[in-house]
Amino acid sequence: MALLQERRGSVAVLTFNRPESLNALNQETLHELEQALDAIEHDDAIGAVVLTGAGERAFVAGADISQFPHLDIWTAGSFAERTLALFRRIETSPKPSIVAVNGFCLGGGVELSLSCDIRLASENARFGQPEINLGIIPGWGGTQRLQRLVGPGWARQMILSGEMIDAQTALRIGLVNEVLPQSALLDRAVALGERIGGRARKAVALAKQAILRGHDMPLEDGLKYETAMWQLVFETEDRKEGVAAFLEKREAKFTGR
Ligand code: COA
Repeated sequence: MALLQERRGSVAVLTFNRPESLNALNQETLHELEQALDAIEHDDAIGAVVLTGAGERAFVAGADISQFPHLDIWTAGSFAERTLALFRRIETSPKPSIVAVNGFCLGGGVELSLSCDIRLASENARFGQPEINLGIIPGWGGTQRLQRLVGPGWARQMILSGEMIDAQTALRIGLVNEVLPQSALLDRAVALGERIGGRARKAVALAKQAILRGHDMPLEDGLKYETAMWQLVFETEDRKEGVAAFLEKREAKFTGR
């Protein structure tokens, strides 16, 4: 299996499992990821997804370069479109995703992490968009999402130079939210997933949607969109429960409805 699947409480943990190739993403891995998402999306017991890499060296060292000699203008296009659709599906999923970056995170690994909601890294993690070293450019969203997260200055430096940055630099520029010892990384990611999955699920999904859609709107439109999501949340049972629990000084019991 190129992708291992495990349940930890309400969190689905997906582990890229080709450590001999530093977990580079090939067609088989992407297909297994697609199938895993199909199952997760329909499973009400799952509140969040954690993505990580097998072994201690890499999260994902990019697309599998051994596939590239076989690509031409048409197959390169369809490969990119299919993967972009998969990453967009993760980005827009109502179930939040957390990446635990446990080593090299390069090219497609960065692009995948950019489609997730939260990025955590181990101290030995290294990030880069090294495509330029191969005479190509990022094709799974790197030129677009990286600059939206860290700004065009760092995006240009990483994409044009192909140089890697370390975990502390990634933290400083906002590419990751937290840096942890490798031994603590997965537990922290799962705990965060459990916490988010234990909130009012519809509120989590609507908040995520408001942040995501609002990002590319003028502020006035974004604020209107937020109001629409805020109104929708008032139709949920969890809203009634959350407010009642606070007023009655007890723990809320959210049901996801
Ligand atoms: N695609 C396919 N195979 C990859 C790979 C990738 N993206 N990244 C690493 N591998 C393979 C190597 O070919 C090697 O396989 P081998 O043992 O059969 O020779 C194995 O993983 C280990 O990598 P290696 O290069 O020997 O390790 P290293 O410690 O010397 O270097 C990296 C690590 C990450 C710096 C180096 O592997 C690298 O530059 N990888 C390519 C990263 C990249 O350009 N990604 C973007 C692709 S668009």
